[in-house]
Amino acid sequence: MAKWLCAVCNIYVYNEETGDSHTGIDPNTKVPDFPDFWRCPVCGANKDKLVPILEEEYWQKARTYTNFTEKKEEKRNILVGVDNPLTVPELRQEYGTPLGLRGIGQGLTCLANFSALSKYRLKKRLISKHEDPVIETAFLGKKINMPVLGAPMSSLSYVSNITEEDFAYNILEGCKAAGTVGCTGNTSRDYEMVHPAIMALKKVNGHGINIFKPQSQEVLIDLIKQSEVEKAVAVGVDIDGAGSVNFSLAGKPVFRKTIDELKELKIATRLPFIVKGVMCLEDAMGAAEAGADVIGVSNHGGRVLDSDFGVADVLPEIVKGLRDTDKDERILITADGGVRTGFDVIKMLALGADYVLMGRPLAREAVSNGVEGVKRVLEYIQTDIRIAMLMTSCNTLEDIKDTILIRDR
Ligand SMILES: Cc1cc2nc3c(=O)[nH]c(=O)nc-3n(C[C@H](O)[C@H](O)[C@H](O)COP(=O)(O)O)c2cc1C
Repeated sequence: MAKWLCAVCNIYVYNEETGDSHTGIDPNTKVPDFPDFWRCPVCGANKDKLVPILEEEYWQKARTYTNFTEKKEEKRNILVGVDNPLTVPELRQEYGTPLGLRGIGQGLTCLANFSALSKYRLKKRLISKHEDPVIETAFLGKKINMPVLGAPMSSLSYVSNITEEDFAYNILEGCKAAGTVGCTGNTSRDYEMVHPAIMALKKVNGHGINIFKPQSQEVLIDLIKQSEVEKAVAVGVDIDGAGSVNFSLAGKPVFRKTIDELKELKIATRLPFIVKGVMCLEDAMGAAEAGADVIGVSNHGGRVLDSDFGVADVLPEIVKGLRDTDKDERILITADGGVRTGFDVIKMLALGADYVLMGRPLAREAVSNGVEGVKRVLEYIQTDIRIAMLMTSCNTLEDIKDTILIRDR
């Protein structure tokens, strides 16, 4: 029986023998017999993009993520930017929604992340004393090679052959290997005894951050305590996970949270506490009042609310409002959404973020090329950041201000 791989996202594998109940395909159905409206559950590509893969080839591919040392010499194309509908417009037209691990609804929020970043141009400035840009920094006391962290992601096991634990491990270990820190997401899948994100955290000796969905206070406090035992760098809640489609499909309740509830989570742990999923000043102030150490400005990569703003659109207002009350800059601000290059990274920093999170480009690599793939994307980003800083006369991260940005004309 044949297996088919989606040539667009490089993640989704269809197995003829089992069919795919998720997308309504019965066992033993051949790809040409799929209905025309069928779309890849990962990226929205149509059935024409599925290519047959030989069993042997497939397992060889799968093996590379556990045994990447054999492949060290091999240079692969890095898939950064393949899902940017602005730079690959013909793909957007073909599939309707932005490609790459899908946005919700029409994908407008997902698209807004890319267009918000593209509204800014970088001001090239070169007549100044040459210095090599310093991009090393620290996050919550941990030295990191660049102000970029791996975003929390989960549930890739629904659409690929990777387990939740292996996926989380590949992200955490890949980020660690690149000299930074990664986050784990919170899968809606059932698990036995220990949460896969916590298992992965244990494997990397605590070098990671667990972000949990806004479940009941009891469940959250229990998970947070387990992260604390494994000495996580930080823990947090993605408050916009209240709109998680996967959790509602799995019949697992997720909730909006009050300031008091967030406060209860914050004081339940000695670890730094992150509130991710903030897209307005009111929520930023609420998270600050609850005592959050880090506020994540994010629309979840456009996966929870369609027709939201792009992150780069709302970031400056949130940063300004927050800093007006948080004068000593106690609270750290992260931003994510549509960041595909080091040039995007410095735009987010110039708009006021302290750190930038990357999602889909790392997910793709974590599934198909494992730890080594995640590391390679981050190294590519690191090189880009240096070039971007060099070309805008920024010697240090502190030099990256909104003066390096020009609104597109
Ligand atoms: C497949 C997938 C799963 C995700 N799962 C989670 C999650 O479990 N928790 C969370 O806080 N964010 C989750 N996110 C959102 C990311 O953390 C991040 O906000 C988003 O991917 C950033 O946008 P980008 O992919 O354009 O970089 C997920 C994103 C994707 C693509």
